[in-house]
Amino acid sequence: MSAPRVCVVGSGGREHALCLALARSADVVATPGNPGMAGEVADGGRITTTPAPPEEVEAALYVVGPEVPLVAGLADRLRALGRRVVGPGADGAQLEGSKAFMKEVLVAAGVPTARYGAFTDVDEARSFLRELPGPWVVKTDGLASGKGVTVAATLEEADQDVSAKLSGSFGDAGRRVVVEEGLSGPECSLLVLCDGRTVVPMVPAQDFKRAFDGDRGPNTGGMGSYAPLPELREADVDALVERAVAPLVHELRRRGIDYRGVLYAGLMLTADGPRVLEYNVRFGDPEAQVILPLLREDPVDLLVAAAEGHLARAVPAGRLAPPGGAAICVVMVSEGYPDSPLVGHAIRGLGPEGQLAEPVPGVTVVHAGTRRESAEGPFFVGGGRVLGIMASAPDLADARRRAYAGVERVSWPGARWRSDVAAGAGAGVGAGVGAGAGAGVGAGVGVGAGVAEVSLVPDLTVATPTPPPGREMPSTPGCQAS
Ligand code: AMP
Ligand code: GLY
Repeated sequence: MSAPRVCVVGSGGREHALCLALARSADVVATPGNPGMAGEVADGGRITTTPAPPEEVEAALYVVGPEVPLVAGLADRLRALGRRVVGPGADGAQLEGSKAFMKEVLVAAGVPTARYGAFTDVDEARSFLRELPGPWVVKTDGLASGKGVTVAATLEEADQDVSAKLSGSFGDAGRRVVVEEGLSGPECSLLVLCDGRTVVPMVPAQDFKRAFDGDRGPNTGGMGSYAPLPELREADVDALVERAVAPLVHELRRRGIDYRGVLYAGLMLTADGPRVLEYNVRFGDPEAQVILPLLREDPVDLLVAAAEGHLARAVPAGRLAPPGGAAICVVMVSEGYPDSPLVGHAIRGLGPEGQLAEPVPGVTVVHAGTRRESAEGPFFVGGGRVLGIMASAPDLADARRRAYAGVERVSWPGARWRSDVAAGAGAGVGAGVGAGAGAGVGAGVGVGAGVAEVSLVPDLTVATPTPPPGREMPSTPGCQAS
């Protein structure tokens, strides 16, 4: 039987990681893709790229990488053509398209989050700021590639940021701002597969959002990531899913939104328990680069099941196999990123396939912002985030060594990366989750071994805990959301 054909939509590092994972068992065509993607995957299929729009690509499955086309309704258009799609329609994608909508749904769902207000008027926003203890957080309502959030230490700074945002510095995305209380604690990214009613968590990851070592500098699209988080136990993940994801999916269903795709909860593990900072409606970038290589199931099977609405059948144990090792991704960015990335330099250290000319075992290069003038020619810097150096190994320390060995073999003038990705792994995240998540999940909610279906929310299967031997999983409802 020939390999299925899967279409990946997008052109960044996340999409390259998706191509590599899916090509283990499929032929992958990326649109528009990037110059580092095309090639054969060892013992797997081929990756090709096409400038054709996704609607014109014939494939058995469409995986939409970025949020922008999802917010613009690409998944709806593909579904209207009868295609199988991983990614919510425009209705579900509003979770990421509008922070004000996301906060409203989140509060309706009873998911814990920072206190907030949404404003189009500068004076109203400023007076709300004065009701909050500092630090103060100001966010553009609309999409801003992870760069629309300011955490202000003083009211003056917050005031100025509100004015700057509402005066149009972010265009349409900034016509409204969300102002919220500043929280503190370690962060983690919890991504789940969702088929409209069943959620299956993937391995939690941490990303590094700030531009410089020690979490200094402006927020970026993401400077690195690693997984798993050694301190998060399976029971912690179950509790986080119940508290932060399941009620949200239930609320979406109540509103008639049939969410099929990846749902990403950005969590802060505060002393008072976990708080959702944001939802994203897709794989994280660069979280995908570390989550996907750790999947022991066939990603094509999982994503088809999410698209078709039969995740509970595809993952009968209710949870994915634990990862056998660890993965890290160090993002190499161009000089001036994130404010004004300098493009154009030739990249040294890559072979004709775009991988390390001098390979390091376990290391794969994902291309994010590269350009090429001819099929065999050198690669050039073409964007802010240029390359991701991914490594997987039996343990995190080993993966980390390999990734940084890879980084040392690639260069261009002004290339920059964080040297502390996963440096503090194992310290910090666990305490916040263990205490907070446990405290947040009320008594009477079954968590842990032996619970086949968590009934925190009616009519929603939380496929996390393993059923005890001999007990049947609840029957899977039909794949159409009611
Ligand atoms: P977001 O795009 O909403 O996830 O925000 C990007 C980053 O800003 C988060 O990863 C946090 O580091 C920070 N952030 C967002 N909201 C808050 C908050 N309420 N308190 C403190 N930091 C926050
Ligand atoms: N890594 C953050 C994001 O994908 O939004």
